[in-house]
Amino acid sequence: MAKKIVLTGDRPTGKLHLGHYVGSLTNRVRLQEETKEYVMIADAQALTDNADNPQKIKQNVLELMLDYLAVGLDPQKTTFLVQSMLPELPELTVYFLNLVTLARLQRNPTVKNEMKQKGYGANVPAGFLTYPVSQAADILGFKADLVPVGEDQLPMIEQTNEIVDVFNRFYGPVFKHAKPLVSAIGRLPGIDGKAKMSKSLGNAIYLSDSEKIIKEQVMKMYTDPGHIHVEDKGKIEGNVVFTYLDAFDPDKTGVEALKKQYKKGGLGDVEIKKRLISVLENLIGPIREKRERLAKDPAAVMAVLERGTKKAREVTKKTLVEARAAMKIDYFS
Ligand code: TRP
Repeated sequence: MAKKIVLTGDRPTGKLHLGHYVGSLTNRVRLQEETKEYVMIADAQALTDNADNPQKIKQNVLELMLDYLAVGLDPQKTTFLVQSMLPELPELTVYFLNLVTLARLQRNPTVKNEMKQKGYGANVPAGFLTYPVSQAADILGFKADLVPVGEDQLPMIEQTNEIVDVFNRFYGPVFKHAKPLVSAIGRLPGIDGKAKMSKSLGNAIYLSDSEKIIKEQVMKMYTDPGHIHVEDKGKIEGNVVFTYLDAFDPDKTGVEALKKQYKKGGLGDVEIKKRLISVLENLIGPIREKRERLAKDPAAVMAVLERGTKKAREVTKKTLVEARAAMKIDYFS
């Protein structure tokens, strides 16, 4: 049987954090063993709301590559590529835009949310409103079977599959539905208990953070505001320290015992936080060291991206030939 094709990506707007790790990086590392995996650095998509700040995007391309390689994505198994160097993707986007209505674009819940956060209103950049269509081109350009992503990306896959249906109806069976793959653990909250980790909220722990910063962030973590004295009974639900222990502590029985004790009273926040600090340092320490080693030779890291992008382009070129033939715009081949 042919290997499944996996495509996923990130906008190069910052370093990756534990939310990314839980939400999709672990899936990607696992999937590279058994599939054909492509990981895209979506620089063109990042420009849709950062058109005035290209320097930020450029700088974060390298940061993302360092994060990827440091968590164990292996260039022998995974193909890395940079979106803007594949002109077939914007070409597919132009054709796909005919298959989507403005009303549908305005209903995409993730885009709606982001627009609200950014306060765009009617002055939303057209490229931003339509980025789900460009994301459909990313996915379909590679004919991906599986797309490992965070929960917030589910509406993008849904919209992609709607485009597949219309395209195939109009032009014949060129594309197939892609399946999202979300983490079993669900979304990791920020250290303040807010639903999402983000740089602007300062509630994230990064895969590149020093031990000192990990300590500071864990000590600031939201626990149970009613748990004031060690003897007090404490709550587990909504207690970020326990949410993180559940996600990262390999000793599950140990964590269950701690939960029991915490609920009964007699276990202080500092103690559970100390345990979490050591669990996180065990995870992040080796990633940080590998990252620092790789960062000494940025040219070598960028060469990996260049090789991957060349290889990836062979795939998108082939898809475009097929799509154009189906659309009857293949005049002089
Ligand atoms: N929208 C994704 C994010 O913000 C990034 C992305 C771009 C992507 N193209 C993709 C994800 C294709 C999966 C597949 O994280």
